[in-house]
Order: sequence, then structure tokens, then C-alpha cells
Amino acid sequence: MSQVSAVILAAGQGKRMRSVHPKVLHKVGGKPMLLHVMDAARKAGVEEQIVVIGHGRETLLESLPELNYVVQEQQLGTGHAVFQAREAVGKGVERVLVLCGDTPLLTASTLKNLIEYHEKTGAEATILTAEMDNPWGYGRILRNDAGDVEKIVEHKDASPEELLIKEINSGTYIFQKTSLFAALDKLTPDNAQGEYYLTDVISVFFRQGKKVSAFKAEDTKEVQGINDRVQLAEVEEIFRSRKNRELMLSGVSLIDPATTYIDADVKIGQDTVILPHTIIQGNSIIGSHCLIGPSSRLEDCVLGNNCIVQYSVLIESKFGQGCKIGPFAYVRPGSDLRDNVKIGDFVEIKKSTIGTGSKVPHLTYLGDSEVGVGVNVGAGTITCNYDGEKKHKTIISDNVFVGSNSNLVAPLEIGKDAYIAAGSTITENVPEGALAIARERQTTKEGWVAKKGKKKK
Ligand code: UD1
Ligand code: CA
Repeated sequence: MSQVSAVILAAGQGKRMRSVHPKVLHKVGGKPMLLHVMDAARKAGVEEQIVVIGHGRETLLESLPELNYVVQEQQLGTGHAVFQAREAVGKGVERVLVLCGDTPLLTASTLKNLIEYHEKTGAEATILTAEMDNPWGYGRILRNDAGDVEKIVEHKDASPEELLIKEINSGTYIFQKTSLFAALDKLTPDNAQGEYYLTDVISVFFRQGKKVSAFKAEDTKEVQGINDRVQLAEVEEIFRSRKNRELMLSGVSLIDPATTYIDADVKIGQDTVILPHTIIQGNSIIGSHCLIGPSSRLEDCVLGNNCIVQYSVLIESKFGQGCKIGPFAYVRPGSDLRDNVKIGDFVEIKKSTIGTGSKVPHLTYLGDSEVGVGVNVGAGTITCNYDGEKKHKTIISDNVFVGSNSNLVAPLEIGKDAYIAAGSTITENVPEGALAIARERQTTKEGWVAKKGKKKK
């Protein structure tokens, strides 16, 4: 499959989304719908991709600065949109795959089959079509008595009989490049919407005696376009069950797929079990033999094998092998937890490194900290990392024992093997091997209650 380029239409406003963001940036499985379409094309072997952008293009380019694009200044119709790419398509390219940026369920295998079918039949154009129980809103495929595709009629231009046709235009096509751009150059906007319809290329080809084929999608869901947020939610649900299924077939257990939400690009290793009400987002990568959930959210996190995460929120952080997190832990961006680290209940970690085997089991806040190996941080320890203006660092070296309910006022460095007595507020560095106590000595007043005359009935 050589010399195929894709032109992806994404210049329309998507009015029905009622959004300030361009439609194609709305996410499915945590990823802009446009990128789903581009991924499918790339996986089908189509490397050169030209995206036609227009409405909201500043926002679009801010989010996707790498985009290879052409601009359609005014959105005069799908035919006009494709025509804008005529100069951008590579010289040696023979075929142009036209895709819409709002059909994120299209798969690479369908595109591959479409391209192969087109090459096999030697057609000038091949339309990806589908049989729809409810074809409302789509362009209809008109065939002659011999079964050849004669034209596509838009819903708004269709006669009552034509509206009964159930075979629809998915908006995905492959064309021979030279004939496509020649036909687009001659389009006129004489239709119900006053637009230059890409679909009119089909009747032009038919009249010129050029062969037009149709390739029916096996799964009609794949061609579903998104025009409003109801369809966005429908597509999201289909996508989610597809992703869940893929993971299960690859060896991941989802105890309740119905309440498991895993983004498009997430990777999970074999024999990992995901418990209900768990959300795994972004570019997270989870190792093998982990137990994640219930009720956890992981965003852009990398976890080694054999980790356990319960009722916790983990964001933009790394975890080694065998970490135990939660229940009820919050690990914030920029944290790097090495192997066998334990973060227990009601612990918050922010932008901190924690060495192998260290434990932070209860009720603690560590921010901007560097914690060595084999450290034990007692319950209720707080790093006072913020002086009201700046953040400061706390270094807790290897094998330190921090007693419960300590305040570590940063900047601070605690040397190796040192002990911090419980209830201390530590404001000065502690050398290696020392014990630091920073609290008032206890005073016990014997017989105080009786003298006060209290506690009498
Ligand atoms: C189009 C097809 C219709 C098909 C349907 C499938 C035409 C005339 N009709 O209709 O046969 O059944 O898709 O979903 O092609 N766009 C631009 N510039 C424009 C206009 C549109 O880039 O000037 C882009 C849109 O952003 C969108 C795509 O083209 O990604 C399709 O446009 P849309 O207005 O949604 O077309 P439909 O009315 O759905
Ligand atoms: Ca559409």
C-alpha cells in the first residue's frame, strides 16, 4: 500500500456541540477525537496526513502544535475543504483517503480493507458505506439497477423515496488523486445548503464513466460521527467497552467493566486485576500482577509489577515494583516512588522521591522531599515546605526514623540513621546517627487534681 495520503476534515465549527472548543478536540477515551482518526490512518499504513482546519484553529494548534495542516478560511463545504489540500498532498501520491475528524471509532483494519478493496477493484473512488437502521441525517447511497453507485444524496436534498434508503455515506472515501482534484475544481454549490459537497464528486465520476465502488463497513458503529454531546457520550461508551474488551483479551481482569474507565493509550500488564470504580487515564502504564482499585484514579502514572493501589488518587508519578498505596492516599505530580514503598492511609505525597523499602504508613504530608531507602515516617508527620512565599526542600537520608507527629520545617536535611523523637518540630539540620528531640519536657504535677478540689462528686 504505497502512495496513499490522508486528508482529514476538521474545519467545521461543530455548532451542535455548543462548545467554545473545536469539536475535534473533544475527547473520547481521554484523547481528542481527531487523534483517534489520525492513529487509525497511521496504523493502516497512511503516513502522510493533512488536516484541514479552520474554525477555532488557534485553539486547535495550541493543543496539537505538531499538526500537518492546511487552512480552510471559510467553511464552504466538504468539497471545498478537501480542495484546500491540493497543494499539500505529496507529488508522488496516487490515492487520497478522505476522513472526517469526528468519527473516532473507525478502525485501522476497516481503513486497510477499504484501501485494499479500492486497489483491487481499480475504482476511481471507493466510498465506505454502512447499512443503518436509522439513517437520519446521513447522505444516502443511490445505486442504479446494475447495483453501481450513481450518486450520494444529502439528507436535506433527498426526496421522500430516497430518504427510505438505509445505505449511508460514512464520510470516509478513497479517491484517485488526479481525478479527485479535477472534479473538485468544477463543483458548484447548487443544493439545499449552498455548499460545495464532496459527495458530488461521485456523480461527476459516474457521468464521466469512471468506476465508483462502495465498501460496506461490517460494524456500523465504527462509522458513527459525533455532532452533539449525546452522540459524544454514546461513542465514549462504545469506545470504552472496546478498550475494556481489548484489555481483558490481553490478560487483564476487569472485575466490573461497567464501572471501569480506561483511556485509549493506557497500557496494562498481564494478570493485573482492576477492581470496580477505577479510572485510569492519560499515558498511564501499569505493570503485571498489580491490584488496582476499588475506587481509584490514576492519571499519567507509571507503575511497576506487583503494585497494590486501593481507594487512592495518583497523578503524574512513578512507582517501582511492589509498591503498596492506600487506602485513601493522594500522590501528586512529580513524585517518584522506588520499589516496595508503602504509602498508607490519609497520606499526601507531592513532588517527592521516596527510596526503596521506605514506609509512610499513616496521616502524613511529604512535599518537595527527598527520602532515602529504608526510612520510616511516623504517623502525623508533616513537611512544612512552604514559608508563605517559597517552597523548600526536605532531605530525609537512608534509614532515618521519624517519630510520630513531627513537623519538619524546610529547608532541612536529616542525616543517615538519625532518629527524630515523636512530637518534635525540627528546624535545624540533624547530623548522621543523631537523635533530635525538639519538644518541651513533660512536667507531671502529682496530686494536682485533689489540690484543685476538682473531680469531687
Ligand atoms: C457529511 C456528508 C454526508 C455523510 C456524513 C457522514 C457531505 C456533503 N456530506 O455530512 O454524506 O453521510 O458526512 O458523517 O460531505 N468540514 C470542513 N469544512 C467544511 C465543512 C465541513 O472541514 O466547510 C468538516 C467538518 O468539520 C466535519 C466533516 O467535514 O469534520 C463533515 O462535515 P459535516 O458538516 O459534519 O457533514 P455532514 O452534514 O455530517
Ligand atoms: Ca458530521
